[in-house]
Amino acid sequence: MTKTKVLLSGKIFNDLHEDLAGRYELRSNQADEVLDAATLGQMIADREAAVVTPVDRIDASLLAQAPNLRLLCNIAVGYNNIDVEACTTRRIMVTNTPGVLDETTADLGFGLLLAAARRVVESDRWVRGGQWQAWRTTAWLGHDVHHARLGILGLGRIGQAIARRTRGFAMEIAYHNRNRLAPDVEAAFAARYMDKGELLEWADFVLLCLPYSPATHHTIGIAELQCMKPDAVLVNIGRGGLVDDAALIEALRARRIAAAGLDVFENEPQLQHGFFDLDNVVLTPHIGSASFATRRAMCELALQNLHAALAGAVPPNLLNPQVLAAAP
Ligand code: GLV
Repeated sequence: MTKTKVLLSGKIFNDLHEDLAGRYELRSNQADEVLDAATLGQMIADREAAVVTPVDRIDASLLAQAPNLRLLCNIAVGYNNIDVEACTTRRIMVTNTPGVLDETTADLGFGLLLAAARRVVESDRWVRGGQWQAWRTTAWLGHDVHHARLGILGLGRIGQAIARRTRGFAMEIAYHNRNRLAPDVEAAFAARYMDKGELLEWADFVLLCLPYSPATHHTIGIAELQCMKPDAVLVNIGRGGLVDDAALIEALRARRIAAAGLDVFENEPQLQHGFFDLDNVVLTPHIGSASFATRRAMCELALQNLHAALAGAVPPNLLNPQVLAAAP
C-alpha cells in the first residue's frame, strides 16, 4: 500500500518523529531550519498532509502550490498563521491543539505580570552589572500585585486559568469579551464584566489573552494606552498584533504606563528595536506553552489529529467541519 505523503515543517520530539517516519512517507525538517515561503512551497508541493507550526504562513498562494493537500495540523492553539477560509475553499481540513496548553500559558502570563510589576529582570541585570552596593529604603520600588485590580481581555480557557491563579493574591478581576459569559461562569471567577474603556481605566494590570484576527488587531493602541493608569502594567500572552508595538514603546518610554511583560510581538522575531532601550519591559520569545510536558502534549495532539483524519475519521480538533459536507 502506498504511504501518505506527509510534511513535518519543524522539529518535534525524536520518538514521535520516528513513529511518524514509520507510518507515512515523511518529509521533515528535524534540523529545525527557518523555512522561507519559497522553501516551504517546495517542501509542501506534493504533500497530502502537513504538520505545521505558528511560524509557517499558510496562505492562498502557498496552498496553490500544493494541489494534493487535504489536511493541515497546526501545533498550536492559535491559527492566525493559516488562512482557514482559503483551506475550506480548497476542502483542506485544518486542526489545532486546544486545551493542553492553558495552564502552562497561564503560568507564563502570571510570571510576566509579577516580573514586570516587581522589576525582576531589570534588577537582575543591575545585580549582574555589579552595581549593588547597599540596601536602600526607596530603591527598586515596584507595584503590588496582591489586592490589585486585574483586567483580562479575553476570559477564555487561558484567561480563566489566570483568574484562578489570582485567588492567592486576593486580586479583583474584571474582564471584557466579545460575548459576555454566563452569570454562573462570571460568579465562579468573581469576574465583573466591563466594556473595554471602563476596564482600561479601572485596572492596575491589563492582561491580553485573545486570539488574533482582523477584529482584534491593535486592541491596545494609542487611545487605549492613554486610558490606562500611569501605574498600570500591560501583559500580552495572546498574539503579536493585538498591541500596537510602536505605540506601546512610546507609552513605556514616556512612562504613560509603568511597565509591560510581553511574550508575543508584531512581526516576531523581528522586534521593534525601541523595546531594547527600555528597562520597564520584560521580553520573552513566544514561550507561553514551552514546558517539556506541554509542548509534548501539543505535538501528541497534533499527531492524533493527523492520524485520525488520515484514517478517515473526523479529527478531534477540526476547525473547519464545513469541508466534510458533501461537495456541491
Ligand atoms: C502558541 O502560541 C499557540 O497558539 O499555541
